[in-house]
Amino acid sequence: MSDSTRPRLLTGDRPTGPLHLGHYVGSLETRVALQDSHECFIIVADLHTLTTRPRKDQVGELPKHVRAVVLDLLSVGIDPKQSTIYLQSGVPAVYDLDVLLQMLIPTARLRGLTSVRNMATAAGMNEDSITLGLLAYPVLQAADILMARAQVVPVGKDNEEHVNIARELASVFNDMYGEVFPIPEARISQTPALPGVAAGLGGSHNKMSKSLGNAVFLSDTPDDVARKLRTLDDEGGDGSPLRQFVDAFVRDTSDAASIKAKLDGGEPDAAREAVVEAVQALLGPVRERHDELAREQGMVEEIIVDGTIRAREVAYQTLAQAREAMGLEPLWASLVDATQQRAEARKKPSY
Ligand code: TRP
Repeated sequence: MSDSTRPRLLTGDRPTGPLHLGHYVGSLETRVALQDSHECFIIVADLHTLTTRPRKDQVGELPKHVRAVVLDLLSVGIDPKQSTIYLQSGVPAVYDLDVLLQMLIPTARLRGLTSVRNMATAAGMNEDSITLGLLAYPVLQAADILMARAQVVPVGKDNEEHVNIARELASVFNDMYGEVFPIPEARISQTPALPGVAAGLGGSHNKMSKSLGNAVFLSDTPDDVARKLRTLDDEGGDGSPLRQFVDAFVRDTSDAASIKAKLDGGEPDAAREAVVEAVQALLGPVRERHDELAREQGMVEEIIVDGTIRAREVAYQTLAQAREAMGLEPLWASLVDATQQRAEARKKPSY
C-alpha cells in the first residue's frame, strides 16, 4: 500500500540492552503484524533513557545498546524498507516541539502519574530529587508521537497514560492555535506481561525485565535459553509462570491442552520441555537472522542512519507547521524581512 493511505503508527523502546521474550510477546509480534497495513515509525528512545541514566558512563553504553535493539528489531522481522527505525536524539526538531508542548501542561498533571513515580523509585530518586527531565518524560513522548503525526500508538499498559497526555496536548494545541495534530490513539497490548524465569534476582513472580536479571534474551544461545526456561516455576495454579509460558508460546491449542493436562497430572518437567521446544523453534530463525546481520559490517548503522534522516524530514515539516500556527515562524520571518529591506536600502544610492 502507498504511504499516503496507510495510517501512521509510532512505537518503540528505550535502549537499555537487548530485547527479550517479554518484548516479543507483548509488542514485537504486533509490530511485525502491523507493518504491512501501517506506515510504521519505530523509535529508539535514547533521550528517554537519559531521564534516569544521564551519567557519562551510562551515556557511554548507548552505542552498544542502540545497536543491540536495532539488531533485535530486524531479527524478529521488522523490515527497514517498510518501517522507519530511528534514533530519537538524531532528530533535534523533537526537542523544539517538546519545549513548545511544555507550555501547555500543568506540572501537577505529571506529578500524579504512577509511571513517573515508578521510574523514579526504580532509579532511586525521591520526591525532591526527581529531575525535570523525568517529570517531563511523558511530554517528550508526546513530542515523539505528535512529531510523526502518528494516529496509532501500540504500547503496554504502563504507557497508556503517556498516550493520553499526547492526546490532551494535541487537542489543547489544536484548540489554541489551529488544527495541526491528529489525535493519536493508544493500542494497548492485551497480552499479559510475561513473568521472568526463576534464575536471577527478580525470580519468576516478577515480570520479565533486564534489570531484574530474570530475562530470556532473543539473542541468548540455545543452551542459555534451555537452561533458563528449565527454571520456570509451576507454583501458583492457573497463573503459574510455567502455565503462562505455555499460553504464550505453545500456539497449537491441542498441544497446549495436552501439556496442561500433564501439568495437572503432576508432570511439570514435560511441560517445561514443551516450552523449551516451542521457544527454541521460535528463536531459531531469529537467531539466524541476528547472526547474519551482525556479521555485515555497517549494516545496522546504515539502517538507523537512513531511518533517522527520514524521521528528520517528517519532524521538520511538522515543526514548521506548529511554529507557523503559533506565530513563531511569522515572528522570525518578519525580523528577517525587515533586515533584508534595510540591507537593500543601504545598497541604494542615497542622493
Ligand atoms: N516510553 C516508551 C518506553 O517505555 C518508549 C517511547 C518513547 C515510546 N517514545 C515513545 C513508545 C513514543 C511509544 C511512542 O520505553
